[in-house]
Amino acid sequence: MRTSLIYRNGTVYEALMRGLYGRHYAARYRAIAELVPSGASVVDLCCGPATLYTRYLRHKSVDYTGLDLNERFVARVTEAGGQGKVWNLRSDQPLPTADYVIMQASLYHFLPEPGPVIDRMLAAATEQVIVAEPVRNLATSDNPVLATIGKRFTDAGDGEQAHRFTEPTLDEFFAGYGAQVVRQSLIAGGREKLYVLSA
Ligand SMILES: C[S@@+](CC[C@H](N)C(=O)[O-])C[C@H]1O[C@@H](n2cnc3c(N)ncnc32)[C@H](O)[C@@H]1O
Repeated sequence: MRTSLIYRNGTVYEALMRGLYGRHYAARYRAIAELVPSGASVVDLCCGPATLYTRYLRHKSVDYTGLDLNERFVARVTEAGGQGKVWNLRSDQPLPTADYVIMQASLYHFLPEPGPVIDRMLAAATEQVIVAEPVRNLATSDNPVLATIGKRFTDAGDGEQAHRFTEPTLDEFFAGYGAQVVRQSLIAGGREKLYVLSA
């Protein structure tokens, strides 16, 4: 499977994310981890190299399952003591159930139709669905060079993603879930927007 450079190695991925988020890097994970109580079960979709688990959830004795298309990232979840599963989330296979079903910085991979994956998350969660998504990013930059870099960094192995959310398009999408959205706020210095949905 051929992927963008950012997805070939967990250490490279983390270094690039640190560079992109700068001093807000830890805050993006903390904002999610704070919502998950000790001992809860978690399914993390598009989990990447397990950073949320290893640095922010493992010490809370969370029962963690990470799903991702990327075999190397999934191997890191398992090595870290979680349950890693290679999973193409474009498939309509029902998700494993958990108290909290989470997705961070990955909903854009499901554009132009992100609804089905959120609906599967809601079907799998017994407490809450937590989604945090970038609303400021390189791919939507007016600078064509930066925009190209942003788009080229998004191929997880099933094609580049030219489209991203902005805050208005994300708000519009989640407005469709009405009263199920119990919280929404900007996190990580305004780079991502967090939505919490009751299951
Ligand atoms: C930007 S990373 C986010 C990783 C992690 N959630 C974080 O915030 O650090 C996007 C992740 O989505 C995964 N991904 C993309 N398309 C996918 C798909 N169709 N099925 C499963 N995982 C996918 C990629 O392999 C990558 O690990």
